[in-house]
Amino acid sequence: MSDLASELLAGVRVSPSILSADFGRLREQVGEVLDAGARVIHVDVMDGHFVPPITVGPLVVDGLAEQAREAGAMLDVHLMIERPERHVEDFVKAGADSVTFHAEATPHVAYTASLVRDLGACVGVAINPGTPVGALSEVAGAIDMALCMTVNPGWGGQAFIEHSLDKILRVRAIVGDRVAVQVDGGVAPDTAPACRSAGANVFVAGSAIFGAEDPGEAYRAIAVAVQAS
Ligand code: DX5
Ligand code: ZN
Repeated sequence: MSDLASELLAGVRVSPSILSADFGRLREQVGEVLDAGARVIHVDVMDGHFVPPITVGPLVVDGLAEQAREAGAMLDVHLMIERPERHVEDFVKAGADSVTFHAEATPHVAYTASLVRDLGACVGVAINPGTPVGALSEVAGAIDMALCMTVNPGWGGQAFIEHSLDKILRVRAIVGDRVAVQVDGGVAPDTAPACRSAGANVFVAGSAIFGAEDPGEAYRAIAVAVQAS
């Protein structure tokens, strides 16, 4: 695992999700949040099976890798795909610094985690809102990040699920201080501070950043909100 990625995930980070970006101007939009200070760029991969939409694959990761690297940033790839073990190598080779897959998407969570680790990327395991936190307990020692979904995966712009706050506390209790706790879905200046208080340290935001007129300013507004909390 790269020193850069583990160092970045150890801090408090707001991570812009390109899902809500204008893909016709992707490089420019990513440049705006990098200039504003973002160092963890979140890439949502959907396969039309695990979740209904289809988004992007390794080619887009490859297309952003150099831009991220030059800025000292990392690419955080969130796989919402079935049987992620069949695809993690392609994403790491394309430039993913961390790969997060869903515990619900494979019977081989520990195996997939070890594949990602052996490929040299940080390992993340995600759980859906309806999945008990116990899904993380047997692999907590083998991962770098636990992603507690705060909406049902598949779409940007959904409302934050309030009872996630209690779940974040329980995720943090299971994984301890060494593992990053990421939240994803409905994260904005009004919801992020409570997530931080509950134990999250990586805050993914899509529509709150790229849905705004000025993505850089919107990034900073969330960063200020979590730092102040
Ligand atoms: C949803 C994705 C998110 C998405 C969040 O399944 O995993 O990363 O971009 O979008 P917002 O921040 O708009 O809820
Ligand atoms: Zn995501």
